[in-house]
Amino acid sequence: MKKIIIAIDGFSSCGKSTMAKSLARNIGYLYFDSGAMYRAVALYCLENNLVSEDGIDTETLKGRMGDIEISFIADPVTKNSITLLNGRDVEKEIRSIEVSKVVSKVAALDFVRTDMIDQQRRMGESKGIVMDGRDIGTTVFPNAEMKIFVTASAEVRAQRRYDEIIARGDKADYNEILENVQQRDHIDQTREVSPLRKADDALLLDNSHMTREEQEAWLIAEFKKITGEC
Ligand code: DC
Repeated sequence: MKKIIIAIDGFSSCGKSTMAKSLARNIGYLYFDSGAMYRAVALYCLENNLVSEDGIDTETLKGRMGDIEISFIADPVTKNSITLLNGRDVEKEIRSIEVSKVVSKVAALDFVRTDMIDQQRRMGESKGIVMDGRDIGTTVFPNAEMKIFVTASAEVRAQRRYDEIIARGDKADYNEILENVQQRDHIDQTREVSPLRKADDALLLDNSHMTREEQEAWLIAEFKKITGEC
């Protein structure tokens, strides 16, 4: 069976990662979370005092890009993807609100994007991958055979992120999360480099009122249509 590239883009907290992960598992593809890579760079900035009230210390960060190595491994038990920053498991830290607050600024830097996009293209060299993010179908893999653009209302997305944080036993403030979701939408859509937008040939998926099962079935059906499987 010919392997393809599946690009899943959309707003933050739309459940892209969950959907991309389960699609990859169902069809035997590798899953890559491009947002985790920007989050890991943001964590590096926080840990190395490159973030202040004035923003990111871009000059220092630019000089350090060669020292930032991001990779993924599969959890031996759950098989979930774990993000490594210079070989260290940072999967939990990169999901914190502190990282969420600065990540859009980091992801808006052109030299950071160039570096991440190079790495992402290398991950897709053998095809057979599902990658989710903001610019996968427009910039990273404009020739991807299957492109999905996911959206849902900001309130639904904030509630999902809130539930996620509470479920893992941490504290959360719904209004703070909603504000963060709206701010990130704005930055992601208006930044100069690779702004978030739907590729002309992407399929639109609004999952505000869809169950996970409905969404999974829809994705598999689209995958089969594209690959010609019955
Ligand atoms: O999907 P996420 O919330 O984990 O993404 C984290 C941030 O990284 C978000 O602000 C958007 C940005 N991002 C991006 O600019 N390009 C990507 N391909 C993926 C994420």
